[in-house]
Amino acid sequence: MANVVVVGAQWGDEGKGKIVDWLSERADIIARFQGGHNAGHTLVIDGKVYKLNALPSGVVRGGKLSVIGNGVVLDPWHLIKEIESIRGQGVEISPESLMIAENTPLILPIHGELDRAREEIASKGTKIGTTGRGIGPAYEDKVGRRSVRVADLADDATLEARVDRALQHHDPLRKGLGIEAIDRDALVAQLKEIAKEILPYAAPVWKVLNEKRKAGKRILFEGAQGALLDIDFGTYPFVTSSNVIAGQAATGVGMGPGAIDYVLGIVKAYTTRVGEGPFPTELDDEDGLRLGTRGHEFGTVTGRKRRCGWFDAALVRQTCATSGVTGISFTKLDVLDGFETLKICVGYDLDGKALDYLPTAADEQARCKPIYEEMPGWSETTEGARSWNDLPANAIKYIKRVEELIECPVAMLSTSPEREDTILVTDPFED
Ligand code: IMP
Repeated sequence: MANVVVVGAQWGDEGKGKIVDWLSERADIIARFQGGHNAGHTLVIDGKVYKLNALPSGVVRGGKLSVIGNGVVLDPWHLIKEIESIRGQGVEISPESLMIAENTPLILPIHGELDRAREEIASKGTKIGTTGRGIGPAYEDKVGRRSVRVADLADDATLEARVDRALQHHDPLRKGLGIEAIDRDALVAQLKEIAKEILPYAAPVWKVLNEKRKAGKRILFEGAQGALLDIDFGTYPFVTSSNVIAGQAATGVGMGPGAIDYVLGIVKAYTTRVGEGPFPTELDDEDGLRLGTRGHEFGTVTGRKRRCGWFDAALVRQTCATSGVTGISFTKLDVLDGFETLKICVGYDLDGKALDYLPTAADEQARCKPIYEEMPGWSETTEGARSWNDLPANAIKYIKRVEELIECPVAMLSTSPEREDTILVTDPFED
C-alpha cells in the first residue's frame, strides 16, 4: 500500500490541482505539510470550480480525512473564511473530516503587515515578490521560538504569554519600520475569539497518521509551491520560507521517511515563475507572450502575470534529485502545440565552461547562459489526448527527450484541465 507525495518540480503553478484531485479520489487521507495560504489550488469537479489556499484538496471529496500538518503556517482567520466559503458551495467540513496539528504555528496579522512593509521598502533587486500573506515572518517566528501555536489557543494564560513573547520581538521591529504599535489586548481578544472556531479541529496529527498508516490507509501528501522555491534548494533568497521538497512531507506531519513510498513530481512542459529572482530560460519575446497567453499564466493568489520561458531540463533534473522523484506528471503539453521549433535547456555556459546544474552562487547564476537543444514542434493539437496514439510523433519525441534529460520517467501525462484528459503510465498508489 503506497503513500504518495506530490511536489511541484519547478517554481510552482505546474498544474498540481488536477493531479492532486485525481490522486485524492484514490487516497484515504490528504495532508498538507508545508507552506500556507500563499498556495492557490484550483479544483474543477463535475463542472464546479473550488479555489483553495490553506485547505487540503481532499476536503471537497466526501469520506476523506484532510490534514493540516505542523509544517504549515496557518492563518486561522483566513482558514475559517475559506471553510465558510467552501461550505457555501455545498461541501461538508467537520472535525471528522479536517484535522489541524496542535503544533502548527499561527500566522498573525503582524506577520502579513511585516511581510508587506518589507516588500514596500525593498529596492529593485532585493524585493522578493512575496504573496504578502505573512508566510516568511511566520516561519521566522517558528524558528525564533516565539510562535503562537494551535495548542496555545486552549489556555488563556499560555496564549497571553506566547503573545507577549512574540511582541517583545515585533514591537521594536515595527517601530524601526514605521508601522504603528500593536494593540496587544486587541490581538489577544481576537485570538481568543478565533480559538473557539479552530480548536475543534486541533488533533495530535502525528499520532493519528501513524495509526492510520499501520491500519493500511493510503496517505496523499499534498505539496504546495515548487521545489525551486525551496528555502534550501531554491533560488535563494528569491524563494518561499519553507522546505518544499519531498523530504519535508515526513517532518511536516510527524512521520518517518519510510512513510513515503512514491514521489510524484509535477512538471510543466515549459517554465513559469511569479515573483522576482533568476530564471535562465525566461523569454521576453513573442514566444514568451504566446506561452503566457495560451497557458493562462496568471497567479491564482495575487493575479500577477507569470514570467514564461522554455523548458529547463537542467533545473528539473536537479529538483527530481533533491526530491527523489519516482515519476513525473507532465502537464500543459498542449500549450506547445503549433510552435515550429521548441527549445530545451540542457545545461549552462558559465564563462565558457559547460555546467549540467545551476550553481548556488548568485553571481555565477547571473552569468549562466542556457545551452539549448532544439527540437521540431508539431502542428496538430495534443489537447484532450487520452492515449499515446492520439499524440503527434514529434510530441512523443519531445516527451521522450525530456525523460532522458531529467533522468526520470513520465508516470502521467495531462493534456487539458479536464480530469479524463490524462494518459496514465503508472498509478503512483499501485506502483
Ligand atoms: P511567499 O511564499 O509569499 O513568501 O513568496 C515567496 C515567493 O514564492 C514569491 O516569489 C512568490 O511569488 C512565490 N510563491 C509563493 N507561493 C506560490 C505558489 O503557490 N505558486 C507560485 N509561486 C509562489
